[in-house]
Amino acid sequence: MDKKATVIGAGNVGATAAQRLAEKELCDVVLIDIIEGVPQGKALDLTEAAPIEKHDAKVSGSNGYEASEGSDIVIITAGVPRKPGMSRDDLLSTNAGIMKNVVEQVAKYSPEAKLIIVSNPLDAMCHVALEVSGFPKNRVMGMAGVLDSARFRAFIAMELNVSVENTHAFVLGGHGDTMVPLPRFSTVAGIPITELISRERIDALVKRTANGGAEIVGLLKSGSAFYAPASAAVEMAESILKDKKKILPCAVLLEGEYGISDLFIGVPVKLGASGVEQVIEIELTEAEQATLNRSADAVRTLVEDMKKLTK
Ligand code: APR
Repeated sequence: MDKKATVIGAGNVGATAAQRLAEKELCDVVLIDIIEGVPQGKALDLTEAAPIEKHDAKVSGSNGYEASEGSDIVIITAGVPRKPGMSRDDLLSTNAGIMKNVVEQVAKYSPEAKLIIVSNPLDAMCHVALEVSGFPKNRVMGMAGVLDSARFRAFIAMELNVSVENTHAFVLGGHGDTMVPLPRFSTVAGIPITELISRERIDALVKRTANGGAEIVGLLKSGSAFYAPASAAVEMAESILKDKKKILPCAVLLEGEYGISDLFIGVPVKLGASGVEQVIEIELTEAEQATLNRSADAVRTLVEDMKKLTK
């Protein structure tokens, strides 16, 4: 393939993202992890599936970053999950440390790459990635909104018993709890869902979406969602690799847009060959802007806590 992507972290999200990138023949894929043998083993397994899946993408695995050299895209999923007894602050400082080490290496070997951050807590990890890489803001983005809106779309399709392909969902703000869904811009075949679903049911779907990650954790017991997160990261990568210029909700650094500055917040952006090519700004109602501001406040607190912890 003439394009190359590296996926850092060969765990559930990383390995699934590698599989989807290869099976869609978007690019050659390098999987990197700190655990010896795991990225190599998963890459070999994916390579052996290629004749059956009918693709010619090369998939390789490594514990070192030399293999990632010259990547067009780097998807970062490395991190540790929250373990019992671990506080939110412990998780924040541990994953910030991992992100720093990873991004230093990534930036050294792929100075022109676009970074798609997946590791949680997402909004805080994006700040680390931007700062450590020194990359311009159009090349550092977080995956959250595509996942949140895919969950919302799945629930809208289930509610109305229609094709998921007819659904569109518009989501702003931070990831999960603090996301801001905009039902008046969420549609089925172009019809706003406010015309098709009662206020009460929309509220229930929104609640389920905001709680989407926790619902899966509750079912899996150990581990968190990975199929949909991997699909979401790959949709972003595809739009960049193919210069499709899709409008997707992504966490990007705002500098005044939506009245917010110096924070990574989920907003609709155009993704093309140079990364984030445009932030799409729409007029919000007072109530929507107030919810977005509350979401931004939560992200600001998270980033400030992280800065204190990693000083
Ligand atoms: N460098 C490279 N890989 C690392 C590092 C590091 N410094 N530290 C940890 N990893 C690897 C782990 O070895 C593991 O294989 O990151 C991988 C994480 O995989 P999982 O534990 O399976 O987690 P996953 O479900 O894939 O989620 C990854 O995405 O959605 C978010 O909240 C989720 O932050 C988490 C991330």
